[in-house]
Amino acid sequence: MKTQRVLTGITTSGTPHLGNYVGAIRPTVRASRLATVESFYFLADYHALIKVTEPARVQRSTLEIAATWLACGLDPEQVTFYRQSDIPEIPELTWLLTCVAGKGLLNRAHAYKASVDKNTAAGTDPDAGVSAGLFMYPVLMAADILMFNAHQVPVGRDQVQHIEMARDIAASFNHLYGEHFTLPEAAIEDHVATLPGLDGRKMSKSYDNTIPLFAPRDQLRKLIQGIVTDSRAPGEPKEPTGSALFQLYQAFGSTDETAAFAQAYADGIAWGDAKQQLFERLDREIAPLRAVYDQLIQDPAQIERTLRKGAEKARDVATPFTARLRHAVGLRALDSVAAPARKEKAAKSASPSVKQYREADGRFYFKLIDGAGHTLLQSQGFDSPRQAADAVGLLREQGAAALPALGHQIASSASSEALETALAAWSARV
Ligand code: TRP
Repeated sequence: MKTQRVLTGITTSGTPHLGNYVGAIRPTVRASRLATVESFYFLADYHALIKVTEPARVQRSTLEIAATWLACGLDPEQVTFYRQSDIPEIPELTWLLTCVAGKGLLNRAHAYKASVDKNTAAGTDPDAGVSAGLFMYPVLMAADILMFNAHQVPVGRDQVQHIEMARDIAASFNHLYGEHFTLPEAAIEDHVATLPGLDGRKMSKSYDNTIPLFAPRDQLRKLIQGIVTDSRAPGEPKEPTGSALFQLYQAFGSTDETAAFAQAYADGIAWGDAKQQLFERLDREIAPLRAVYDQLIQDPAQIERTLRKGAEKARDVATPFTARLRHAVGLRALDSVAAPARKEKAAKSASPSVKQYREADGRFYFKLIDGAGHTLLQSQGFDSPRQAADAVGLLREQGAAALPALGHQIASSASSEALETALAAWSARV
């Protein structure tokens, strides 16, 4: 049963590198195979326009990132895989959210603030060279996330503030217009390494120290040969800690392989040989993916078709949801009858309630039932009544926002809207 919606996007402003692969692409593709998650992955090309003003680069990067995701095993039949700019409802939602987002909130966004600080330090106008697009970046990102009511958003640390802003903006909208949005959470992959680049600093486009994921084999070897090392000679023992080569190896090698590599360091392996081993290990994982990538990139029309199909799937959700949001804010056909206010509606859907009970297996359970007695949500068995009560307490305090935290402890086949409404109605009464 799919209980968790996971969503993430990649800005189409560059060529995917090893850091993107290890930090984002590989873990998200793996996660998308879990039966319990419903995944939305997209190419954030509207976001690219904030940084890139070369049209050909935006197009090329969109092709490269789409091909990369597919080559790395993302299955468009299993997930919803689409291009942001194919969903006209996204900019529409961006406007609805813009109207409830505090300007002060946006003033505090790291990316915007960094530009302002730089200008201030240089003695220029604080907003010099800052586009309104950069300022609005977090609202567009909130629209991406809230449109699909994502529970979890896997991102790097630098994006956590944006997810918090999306929560804030969602809460403001819900407060004004009713419970339409799930409050998203950032999912930070703590155990996923940040890869060092060629110069030993974090691998990043802005440091110009990246290794393109699908560089041809010879170029990959050359780039690896250029990774910084110290001047220790062959035969001298070497320290794995702090060695960029070693960290790169670790991101690809099994535990045993990594231990053997550490041993080789202790035994004084020559840097040239260590680089050759690293190259071979990397290429072993990447070569089969590169072969698929090279094929895909030859056939942009096919990728285009895949993305169009994905957009249809995404719009099956986005179009009706946007219609509901338009109605909620008052963008309505003039002859449509005003919907009853939110509170009346909640009361009418006849008092949902939570029942706690013990089963013959000796374990403690609870379920949320609607006014007609249908089960909307069912817990698994807890060892103690205390644990069950804690989970119920979390639902009471946080409503639907508690669902991601409860994870596999609960199951539900109700629509997220029905669940949210029922939880809100129940917790308002208890
Ligand atoms: N801002 C993200 C980045 O640069 C990309 C992005 C855009 C995104 N919209 C998103 C990520 C929504 C997660 C969810 O990395």
